[in-house]
Amino acid sequence: MKTRTTLWMLVWLLCSLSFQDVMAQEIAINYDENKIPAYELPDPLLMNNGEKVKNARQWTHERRAEILEIFAQEMYGHIPARPEGLHFKKMSEETVYQGLGIRKVVRIYLDKAEQHWFDILIHLPKNVKHPVPMFAGLNFKGNDATLDERASSRWPYEQILKEGFGVATAWRDAIEPDGRDSKIEETENVCKDGGVRAWYNKGGDWGAIAAWAWGLSCMYDYLATDSSVDASKIAVIGHSRLGKAALWAGANDTRFAMVVSNNSGCCGAAISRRVIGENFARINTSFPHWFTREFDKYMHKEANFPADQHGLVALVAPRPLYIASATEDLWADPKGEWLSALLVAPVYKLFGKEGVKADYPAPDAPEMDGVVAYHVRTGKHDITAYDWEQYVSFAKRNYKSE
Ligand code: GCU
Repeated sequence: MKTRTTLWMLVWLLCSLSFQDVMAQEIAINYDENKIPAYELPDPLLMNNGEKVKNARQWTHERRAEILEIFAQEMYGHIPARPEGLHFKKMSEETVYQGLGIRKVVRIYLDKAEQHWFDILIHLPKNVKHPVPMFAGLNFKGNDATLDERASSRWPYEQILKEGFGVATAWRDAIEPDGRDSKIEETENVCKDGGVRAWYNKGGDWGAIAAWAWGLSCMYDYLATDSSVDASKIAVIGHSRLGKAALWAGANDTRFAMVVSNNSGCCGAAISRRVIGENFARINTSFPHWFTREFDKYMHKEANFPADQHGLVALVAPRPLYIASATEDLWADPKGEWLSALLVAPVYKLFGKEGVKADYPAPDAPEMDGVVAYHVRTGKHDITAYDWEQYVSFAKRNYKSE
């Protein structure tokens, strides 16, 4: 009897594991700095024709587009233009936090017929006469979930409003469901028919990260029309997979004045050629829907990718860039995320701007004197009120010095 139960349990276990899970478990993960393969990094300043970029003009008008194309073609996919029918409607507005702020919901209609839409939840400081700077980012579990007490450290609205900033957020799944991790059944939204990729730019080779980045640009389109918002001071922000999306949005859409990558890890800010923590084979096996199919050819072959992630973050230059890690988040490779912040310096230098210092900083000692900032927070993979505090200070410094 006992053997039969064990057998059934084994069968159940095997059935509940998907093909992807089994494959993913077979991919070796290295956590040992001594076992990092010898690698050489592609130089972001080396043009495809072998010429070295000499000045900011050449970077902006020639090299930048080359790197953007590498990531569009080989990793995330191209982001299509915003749809013609894009328009907006305010759904609700109320005063919150004892008069400190305004909370409103704006529906982003993606077509004239109003068949496809997603909602953005906006918090703005109340009784402020001038247009305010904003943070715009996606959330994992739905807009209402960001108001939940348990999310108060991830979305410390009150703290941010007190500093004079606004925050806009939208649910990632309302734009494009996240495969198996999707919470889509819970609420009605744009993705009734399977997400934006199933409806718009059909057949285009773009992954979910590109779709989320596209959604962030649609959010910008609305925010630019809101007279309470300073459209020249909208930072795009994201945690983890949504940090990858924030980087891709910030790289493509230069209207975002600042980019914040929180624990974005593999295919985010972390240098891929270190092959430590999550790697290409593992990420593309667990989350193939995030990428273009071209990315398949780089499984186990990080060194063949024609750029590395410092090339991606370089696309933020000369705008302020903040990369942050957490000490226990080895899966995302904190050291590799910091290396990107460091290695982007030559590109910022073309614009006469400074990068981060050459030594890996101590935990909880943010480095934000220049236009590139970095910190490694003590603790786990997460975005916390502490992280937000640093992003707000960094934005204040940069917006003031303009
Ligand atoms: C997984 C995934 C990471 C991702 C993270 C997250 O751990 O492997 O690449 O950043 O989920 O989004 O929380």
